[in-house]
Amino acid sequence: MQSVSWKCPSNIALIKYWGKKGNQIPANPSISFTLNNCHTITNIRYEPKENDGTLLVSFAYDGKPMPSFEPKLETFFNNVEALFPFLPGYTLEINTTNTFPHSSGIASSASGMAALALCLCSIEKNIGGNLSEAEFFKKASNAARLGSGSACRSIYGNMALWGQTDFYPESDDEYAIKIENIDSVFKTYCDTILLVDEGEKEVSSSAGHALLNGHPFAHIRFEEANKNMGLLKTALETGDLKAFTKITEQEALMLHALMMTSNPAFILLKPNTLAIIQKVWEYRKNTALNVAFTLDAGANVHLLYPAEEKIKAHHFIEFELAKFCKNKSFIHDGVGMGPEQLV
Ligand code: PMV
Repeated sequence: MQSVSWKCPSNIALIKYWGKKGNQIPANPSISFTLNNCHTITNIRYEPKENDGTLLVSFAYDGKPMPSFEPKLETFFNNVEALFPFLPGYTLEINTTNTFPHSSGIASSASGMAALALCLCSIEKNIGGNLSEAEFFKKASNAARLGSGSACRSIYGNMALWGQTDFYPESDDEYAIKIENIDSVFKTYCDTILLVDEGEKEVSSSAGHALLNGHPFAHIRFEEANKNMGLLKTALETGDLKAFTKITEQEALMLHALMMTSNPAFILLKPNTLAIIQKVWEYRKNTALNVAFTLDAGANVHLLYPAEEKIKAHHFIEFELAKFCKNKSFIHDGVGMGPEQLV
């Protein structure tokens, strides 16, 4: 059997994707930091089989079968069949592992689906595909999107944008692009993930996206996201950390406000999430440093700060924030270079 392997990082959105149309087309454009330490490593062993039109795929997580992943995987393969017509002619053995705990509440679908998409593109290349490097990554991003929308952004290092917007003429609804023009401060930005709640999400992001259909504030939300896209672009290009903080926090709170005003409503924030937010605001007022928060679709807090404030931020985390985390646990991460092919 031959084999391909990719290491692919997770990402954290600053402008949030929340709400979709048709086949995984975002209702508004989104921007994210690509992380480094929180990543998935996926290996696929493959060999030719008789092409009888059926897929033969086995899946293991950390070397063990994981039946709970299988429905999502099946949907993914159904969605990407047309992109990879060679698939029914091969047997695939997928083995995957994450550097962060599977139950930590950190979204593993972004890094997981992106790693899988990259592996499929590499198999295609090995059996005679001849895409240019740029087309290879574009295709991987498009395929990753069909597994989990946010996954398409994990294909590129530093910062990525997904969704058509006039602010970036190269942008597209079907794949992400790398944002090239950013101030150097953002290339080393730090993200400490404060693990407030390690449980499984109570409402899946697919269910959350669906609740934007007919949501009374959906229209306003999409307008605000587009407006924030323009403001964030300027902040990223000029290195304006005050503006960056304001937009990032507003986006995080708006995401959760949409959840609270959905029908049915739901709340993913926990009391300790709010306690951390209060502490961050107090800290910023007292120190004038640039520690900011953002939130995923869950209770964990991503604490964002420039590398030059690292020592002070770590002190703040250890002495003032860790007590709000489950078992005082957090993960130091930061902006990374993007996926890496291992085999
Ligand atoms: O990729 P999905 O369908 O799991 O949705 C991700 C949604 C958020 O994480 C809340 C926002 C984002 O843009 O990543």
